[in-house]
Amino acid sequence: MSGQPDISLRTPLCDLLGCDLPILLAGMGGVSRWELAAAVANAGGYGMLGMVREDPDLIAQEVAALRAATDRPFAVNLIPAATEPALLDAQIARCLDLGVPAFTFFWDVMPEVIARVKHAGCQVLHQVGTVKAARMAEEAGADVIIAQGVEAGGHVHGRRPAFELAEAILAQTALPVAVSGGITSGGDLARALAICAGGVHCGTAFLATEESFAHPYHKARVIEATGDDTVLTDVFVLNWPKGAAVRIIANSVTKALNGHYLGHDPDDLPREAVARDGEQERLRFSTDSPLRTTTGDLEAMALFAGQGAGTITQIVPAAERVADMMAQARSAMTPETTP
Ligand SMILES: Cc1cc2nc3c(=O)[nH]c(=O)nc-3n(C[C@H](O)[C@H](O)[C@H](O)COP(=O)(O)O)c2cc1C
Repeated sequence: MSGQPDISLRTPLCDLLGCDLPILLAGMGGVSRWELAAAVANAGGYGMLGMVREDPDLIAQEVAALRAATDRPFAVNLIPAATEPALLDAQIARCLDLGVPAFTFFWDVMPEVIARVKHAGCQVLHQVGTVKAARMAEEAGADVIIAQGVEAGGHVHGRRPAFELAEAILAQTALPVAVSGGITSGGDLARALAICAGGVHCGTAFLATEESFAHPYHKARVIEATGDDTVLTDVFVLNWPKGAAVRIIANSVTKALNGHYLGHDPDDLPREAVARDGEQERLRFSTDSPLRTTTGDLEAMALFAGQGAGTITQIVPAAERVADMMAQARSAMTPETTP
């Protein structure tokens, strides 16, 4: 690009994962399907398929479609703590049969799950919200730690700001660390590289792209939102462990809580369908977000978004989002020259 300083932002994390740029797509359940993962990977970033609780046959279809669209390495994201053990076992077995090169895990660190896929020769990235969980993931054999701050969209594991947590983890590990939560600009990327992180991990910034599988209504709400429009609540908890909090754009469900966002017991919540995805009902208070294929009362669903949503004002192709972030990061890292 003309006028663009030629600064390589390739980090050891890029070398480890086999990508060119230190920007990782978060494996957003439902949202990060093959089209988005391929777009990010082909733009030089690192693609992940968000496959939490998906049927192994869908995982196989998505992996095949991704491989047809890119020859870049990628990871499959699974959440052991939010997946029934038999399904998790079948998901991992299918991924291993397919020769998936890497997994990203999130929430509770399960050493036996990490050991199984490491034994099969796969790389493991683990997203964590605390220093303690980072240490456990490293001890269990993880290759990369993703430090998730409280600013993050979707499920939020810890309560510290992303950069504070990343620095605390970096002080204790030699593993590459990616910063996650509220990262939407090249300025954020430059800041991550300045603290010696290996890169950034972005969800919301890629949710609002043409290739993401989120429903257009969800993308539009992210575009309209300011960072202050998001709330952290555990009321959207059906099908997750009690107390698991999510960051979403405030909606009619959270407004009815009158500020009582945390401390909800799934057993006290009614099971009532508000939407459908094909044959499957989507319950009010479930953690399903509206996808391209969802119909019903989309406003009442979990409209996941991070605190960086306010800086995202347009739905663009994912490659453009990657290129913009890189250009901004390079300018932020170029020393000012006096004429
Ligand atoms: C729509 C959405 C769905 C998500 N689903 C998952 C998921 O299935 N697995 C996972 O590990 N993280 C998931 N996350 C969290 C991301 O991994 C990441 O922590 C978060 O997007 C980072 O914050 P940001 O959205 O501000 O970039 C999700 C986030 C969003 C926005």
